[in-house]
Amino acid sequence: EVWNPSGKYRVVSTKSMPGTRWINLLIAQDCRVEICTEKKTILSVEDIVALIGDKCDGVIGQLTEDWGETLFAALSRAGGKAFSNMAVGYNNVDVNAANKYGVAVGNTPGVLTETTAELAASLSLAAARRIVEADEFMRAGLYDGWLPYLFVGNLLKGQTVGVIGAGRIGSAYARMMVEGFKMNLIYYDLYQATRLEKFVTAYGAFLQANGEQPVTWKRASSMDEVLREADVISLHPVLDKTTYHLINKERLSTMKKEAILVNCSRGPVVDEVALVEHLKQNPKFRVGLDVFEDEPYMKPGLAELKNAIVVPHIASASKWTREGMATLAALNVLGKIKGYPIWGNPNQ
Ligand code: DGY
Repeated sequence: EVWNPSGKYRVVSTKSMPGTRWINLLIAQDCRVEICTEKKTILSVEDIVALIGDKCDGVIGQLTEDWGETLFAALSRAGGKAFSNMAVGYNNVDVNAANKYGVAVGNTPGVLTETTAELAASLSLAAARRIVEADEFMRAGLYDGWLPYLFVGNLLKGQTVGVIGAGRIGSAYARMMVEGFKMNLIYYDLYQATRLEKFVTAYGAFLQANGEQPVTWKRASSMDEVLREADVISLHPVLDKTTYHLINKERLSTMKKEAILVNCSRGPVVDEVALVEHLKQNPKFRVGLDVFEDEPYMKPGLAELKNAIVVPHIASASKWTREGMATLAALNVLGKIKGYPIWGNPNQ
């Protein structure tokens, strides 16, 4: 699909993206916009080299693509100076290779914070109240009347929510769980989440002033402390060498037997084989997973487990956010071509 064929700068998007604002922005700045309409979901490096062609000023790509040496070399040969991932995470991008070939890299932080946190909160609630299991039970025609013990789950109020990685998304999630469900907070991050701490303190004081049990917060000195103490744990680190298999067999064994683990970050943060085993051994331990180690696949056994809720990497999938991500990605590429500041730049 080609927009504004006579545009001076050729910008390629490896996928169609929601909305038209991003296309209009590029057209307004004299870009010819080419959108790949290839049906297959994941494009190979060869597919993308072909899309880049002989002349290409910038590319908007996706987290499913392997942006390494080959692609940055191809983009640089075609005269390209800019690449933006339509994602906040950029573990699929070799930033050193981009630097080597003089290509600026952008990502799309900010616009997906609340949407992603909302999905983490949804998975936490769905796991706590066994919503998916109960839905399957209804649809299977198994409901034959109210019972005192039917799908009994956990009350979140007064329990402790654990957040690993209290950056933008982790903090937004923590705030939702504390304010929405009156949970106490324990978090682990290399940096102090000062605003989050202030919020929980103020909210705790507000509850107390109204005769309610105040909520509390604690900054853990280690991740293991969070795993040991929290009832619901949500993972929000970036994926790099230090966070690969952060949640492994040993760490799972330190968690409460009825804990809930939510992952909306990146699949490889959790050792999925160890997780499947742990879920089998501990039927009251529950997980809500948006991401998987070998996407789009799940490790054997996971799909059969009642104590696992699995969704296909949809944490940022709200209309507003996805349009915002597309717009930011376009602005990133345009920024480099036209010399404007780049919005999300992992190099900075
Ligand atoms: C991201 O942006 O990194 C998410 O995984 C997809 O929105």
